[in-house]
Amino acid sequence: MNVLLIGGGGREHAIAWKITQSEHLDHLYIAPGNAGTSALGKNIPLNADHFDEVRDFVLESEIDLVIVGPEAPLVEGLADKFKAAPELGDVLFFGPGQAGAMLEGSKDWAKAFMKRHKIPTALSETFTKDTIAQGKDYLATRKPPFVLKADGLAAGKGVLIIEDLAEAQEALSEMLEDEKFGSASSKVVVEDFLSGIELSVFVITDGNSYKILPEAKDYKRIGEGDTGLNTGGMGSISPVPFADETFMQKVEQEIIRPTIHGLKAENIPYCGFIFFGLISVQGDPYVIEYNVRMGDPEAESVIPRIKSDLLELIKAAAEGQLKDKSVEFEPQYAAAVMMVSGGYPGAYEKGKVMSGFDDVEKSILFHAGTKQAGKETVTSGGRVIAITSLAESMQEALKQSYENCEKISFEGSYYRKDLGKDLEKYS
Ligand code: AMP
Ligand code: GLY
Repeated sequence: MNVLLIGGGGREHAIAWKITQSEHLDHLYIAPGNAGTSALGKNIPLNADHFDEVRDFVLESEIDLVIVGPEAPLVEGLADKFKAAPELGDVLFFGPGQAGAMLEGSKDWAKAFMKRHKIPTALSETFTKDTIAQGKDYLATRKPPFVLKADGLAAGKGVLIIEDLAEAQEALSEMLEDEKFGSASSKVVVEDFLSGIELSVFVITDGNSYKILPEAKDYKRIGEGDTGLNTGGMGSISPVPFADETFMQKVEQEIIRPTIHGLKAENIPYCGFIFFGLISVQGDPYVIEYNVRMGDPEAESVIPRIKSDLLELIKAAAEGQLKDKSVEFEPQYAAAVMMVSGGYPGAYEKGKVMSGFDDVEKSILFHAGTKQAGKETVTSGGRVIAITSLAESMQEALKQSYENCEKISFEGSYYRKDLGKDLEKYS
């Protein structure tokens, strides 16, 4: 089959890497892709925000299946436009419609959904410009730290965690009145702070049936010891040592099943990945957030651990036939270390020439922010490249990735050297 994969980060490189191993694949196109995906298929400069461009390309290139990597086109309703176009009748589409994408597109909607279906999550209230005063009063009734979340998509920057009440009240005003996050903060969810350890759990679903994929731990902060600014993710490890069978059973019973049933009960068709951003509070899972896609950089450790044919699973999900499939995992540990540009997540320079790819041994390279410039591969983003290794233990997998990080070079490169340290006490 011919596949169009939308996106151009490390997640999409990992998806492309996996599906090119499938006997079902004929041609793969990636829009826009990166220097890594260009070795696996053809990169296409398509703008996924322009439905007409996507439709024309799909028809011209006889695409059989469209896979959407990032959330934005889904929240914008690409799946709905696709399904409404009669000329695209036979083309399979993997990714939820706008209604399902609300799980990520609106934190207020997601919180209300969880309340309706009794899914464990932090207690919260939502406020708007008209209810700022009530919001400030509400904050005064809660215990610090205070968690303020912009309702809409804010590129991972829409969550503030503030210790001081007056500061939190001020921040609420700024978000609502001054539109600190643009229209994303026209509503703000004020949430209780949960103390625990986070992990990411993934399913693939056709809306009826679901398969749980390997879970992962993501490292969000730029600095070692989880300090400094939030980033898109500095690396990931899968499996997660504290996510034992008992914990994962709770996740399935209390969170995954009610989510899938809830969507179905509300007549929301859902075909795609669901990413459950969870926190374990003394062994009990709570939902911090939903995403309607694979995580990045979680995909770079999760996908190499999927033994089954991912393209076959995605196709079955898009056809509504997932029930008959099974998913097998690689029992080994996978560790993905993200190398980033100097200055990231603040301002950074692009266009740095990269070298050392040929010296890398026993790791998989997933390009995130790279592009081809003539014969050179150059940096083109903050998160540049993930180095993933598989081994019998987490420590060995990390060691292998770190050895290869030493071999890849570009001016200003940085990576965290402490991944997995927080998990050692569990493994
Ligand atoms: P989100 O964008 O919802 O993933 O939030 C970003 C980060 O903020 C999460 O990964 C958590 O580390 C933190 N966070 C969000 N909500 C809470 C909460 N209720 N309690 C503690 N930490 C939270
Ligand atoms: N790694 C977190 C995310 O993909 O949103």
